[in-house]
Amino acid sequence: MDAHISEAIGRPDLIRLDDGLVCLRFETMKAVSALAAVRHLLDTGAVRRGDTLVDSSSGIYAYALALACHRYGMRCHIVGSTTVDHTLRTQLALLGARLEQMEPSANLKLDQSRRVARVREILRDHPEYHWMRQYHDDIHYLGYEAVAERIHAETGTGALTLVGGVGSGASTGALAQYLRKRVAGVRLVGVQPYGSVTFGSDHVLDPEIIIAGIGSSIPFGNVRHDLYDTVHWLAFDAARAGSVDLLHRHAVFAGLSTGAAYLAARWEHRAEPGRTTVFIAADTGHRYVDTVFARPDEAPSVEELTPRPVTSPDDLAMPWSRMEWNGSPAPRNAVAGGGPA
Ligand SMILES: Cc1ncc(COP(=O)(O)O)c(C=O)c1O
Repeated sequence: MDAHISEAIGRPDLIRLDDGLVCLRFETMKAVSALAAVRHLLDTGAVRRGDTLVDSSSGIYAYALALACHRYGMRCHIVGSTTVDHTLRTQLALLGARLEQMEPSANLKLDQSRRVARVREILRDHPEYHWMRQYHDDIHYLGYEAVAERIHAETGTGALTLVGGVGSGASTGALAQYLRKRVAGVRLVGVQPYGSVTFGSDHVLDPEIIIAGIGSSIPFGNVRHDLYDTVHWLAFDAARAGSVDLLHRHAVFAGLSTGAAYLAARWEHRAEPGRTTVFIAADTGHRYVDTVFARPDEAPSVEELTPRPVTSPDDLAMPWSRMEWNGSPAPRNAVAGGGPA
């Protein structure tokens, strides 16, 4: 029996959708990561019960950290972007977390840098607060070891491909790293939006809404570029087609980054059907009802979509591109260290 709801929420389901195509489905992905991170900080004496943990978040990390703080008797202060919706605001308030929500910004970069600036102000006024730095501190990898163990136990020692959206990089990076400790030849496929510095798509702007949680306008230390074999870039509309098809064909109600990962995973699985392909579903579809699921007939059919093969980010084109990354280092604009965040 679980001692706290966060443990149940953090434990994903593994669902076989087709022969060799598996969905790793989280209710909300970062709960498992935040729980282990906070436990590690307590165990190592970096923080004590009752201390305040602070971070900036555009969505599911805020909820995950608030749950972990509730579990371990910590205070929680979140600087949230405008993407924090009414449902999340209500839950955060009742969980006892303090949310400061930023005013709408003209773009993602401005929103991210304003949130970081606000966290710095908070830390100046409260030096005793602990900044979680979910994008940079690799303690956010720790919680995924149990998930990797579970994937390994259920999929065995055969060839495995893992596909997932890359935001902070913690989930895909950690799962690949922990799986590779257990089984040889695990392939890692990262999924990105256009307009993100992380894998060099910042020069191609998707005029539609961003895909919440993946991509970035600033470098993240938790992205380890050398772990990735392949990268897919998907525009909003292609990701939406994936989310709609996933619900329609397999009855999995999940968000937009999941739709993008599902499309990429289908492609990888068709190319190499002998491998088991596991893709990450990071959250449920609820907060995407109006933007993604409202007019399903307008979404393109997944059968009509194919990625454009590219050998350099310079050749990226919408709505879908694929490149063998082969463990290349971070593009110039994605080199972390010394940056503001
Ligand atoms: C919906 C969603 N999908 C995927 C991700 C990417 O996860 P990670 O930060 O572990 O790379 C996030 C992160 O915020 C997210 O919110």
